[in-house]
This record gives sequence, structure tokens and C-alpha cells, in this order.
Amino acid sequence: MSEAAGTHYVMGHDDRERRRLILQGSILNPFTEQLMRRAGIAGGMRVLDLGCGVGDLSMIAARLVGRHGKIWAIDIDEAALAIARERTREEGLANIIFLQSNVDEYRPDEAFDAVIGRHILIHTPKPLSILQNTLQILRKGGVAMFQEYDFSVIQPAFPAWPLREQLVRLCRDFFCSATHGDIGTRLFHLFVEAGFATPDCRVEYPIDGGPDSPFYEWIAEALRSILPRAKALGIVDGLNLDCETLAQRLREEAVSLNACCPAPLMVGGFARKG
Ligand SMILES: C[S@@+](CC[C@H](N)C(=O)[O-])C[C@H]1O[C@@H](n2cnc3c(N)ncnc32)[C@H](O)[C@@H]1O
Repeated sequence: MSEAAGTHYVMGHDDRERRRLILQGSILNPFTEQLMRRAGIAGGMRVLDLGCGVGDLSMIAARLVGRHGKIWAIDIDEAALAIARERTREEGLANIIFLQSNVDEYRPDEAFDAVIGRHILIHTPKPLSILQNTLQILRKGGVAMFQEYDFSVIQPAFPAWPLREQLVRLCRDFFCSATHGDIGTRLFHLFVEAGFATPDCRVEYPIDGGPDSPFYEWIAEALRSILPRAKALGIVDGLNLDCETLAQRLREEAVSLNACCPAPLMVGGFARKG
């Protein structure tokens, strides 16, 4: 996707996609929390979460900043924000404000100690503009932290697992044509181009397997979310993508092969305003 291309959220806005975000969060949140700690998110900070979805990063950050800190969290999807508010209430977190807003247009008055986001730059038409704006709204010394996929790099399963290979190639083709599918690897360059001091970027993603892994459902639900747009792009031709049976088929194949299942490659990076 070119910097100038328009965007719509390619995963769609429905309740099943919002549930998928919660499932995905249950797998990725430990990595995100480690990244936040490395980036220095700590007590008393004022943090902005861009594209907060159903609130996973906001809630992790809210615990890290404690009751003297505060989180502002924005998303275009009001129904996702309603779920985030409910989850926050259930967790007893009183220091998060959820706002409906477009990350391309959000121009807050306050300065933040940190601006964070997971899987948001991939979906925005102009990720460089988002980072340039992030630099503007950070206080001096403040930190920007993002965690983004790179679907252009495929790590094979071991041993070879043909169904999964087909699905990850489909994801590569889809995300690299409909979104900034290689944004994770571009993150370092984008930080520097936006004017940040030397970024700290790492590749980190889980590998799982076995009969109880949540990965099979995660993959099947992600494919269900992208299917309408992938079909429109002609990317699914010739594949049996019955999403209702896909998780079970993946599970059975993984178990019979004793195969590992790598998650999509993910880059976590942070950089400071000098
Ligand atoms: C893949 S989800 C990630 C959600 C959350 N950060 C997480 O990791 O669980 C991307 C989120 O970005 C939101 N989004 C996409 N484009 C947006 C935009 N231009 N402005 C605000 N939110 C946007 C979507 O509604 C969705 O909730």
C-alpha cells in the first residue's frame, strides 16, 4: 500500500472481529507488556494509546502508570470502545479515558509522556504522518512505542505443514497488498525519518503448538475477518477456507505432525523525542 493510499480497516468492524482482538491480546499481551516496561512506561505517566481496539494496551498501561498516571485511548470503532469501557470497569481501572477519534486527525491539546500502539500503523494510510504527529504531541524526552507485524517474512513451521503454509502465504499476499504489510521491518526507518532519536527495535513473536494451543482459532478467526476483502482481491482462489472448520483442521494436522506454529513476525520498537 502506498503512503498516499486511502484506508478502511481491512479486518472489518463486527463483534466476532472484536472477540478476535481479545483472543489475540491473550496471546500477545505478555510481549507487549515487556515492551512497555523496556520503553520505560511507569508510575505517574500520561499515555496515549492509538487504535486501542477493545482496550488491551490501555489496560496494561493503566496498571503500569498506576493511579497517579492516566491513559487516553482512541479508536474509530465506537462498539470496540464500549467493550473496552466495560472491560476496564470490570478490572476496576479508573484511569483510562476512551475517545472515538481517527488517529489521522486526532490533535490533542495536552503533551504526553508516551504514545503507544499495537497493529495500528499497518492500517493507516500515512504511518509516517502518524509518527510525525506523535513527535509533536510528546513532551521532550517522551517515548513512542509501537508493535507491528511484518507479513512479508514467513517463518516456516517445523516439520513442514502444508495447510498452514498456504494460509500464511495468503496472509502475506493479502496484508502486503491491502495494508502496509511489511511495516514492522520499516519501523526503525520510519522512527528516524519522523525525527526520533535512535530507535530500539526487536523482532519478537511466539511459537506454539499442541492440542490446547489457541493459535488454530486465532488463525481461523483472522482469516474469517479478512475473507471478504481477500476474495475481492482474488487472493483466495483454489483454497478450502471453510472458516467454521478451519481451527479444528489446523489443530488435527498440527497434532498429527507434532508441528510448531510460529505467529506472524512482529517488531516491537520504541524511540524518544530528543
Ligand atoms: C488490529 S486492531 C488493534 C487493536 C489494539 N491496538 C490491539 O492491539 O488489540 C486495529 C484497531 O485500529 C482501529 N483503527 C483502524 N484505523 C483507525 C483509524 N484511522 N483511527 C482510529 N482507529 C483506527 C480499528 O478500529 C481497530 O480497533
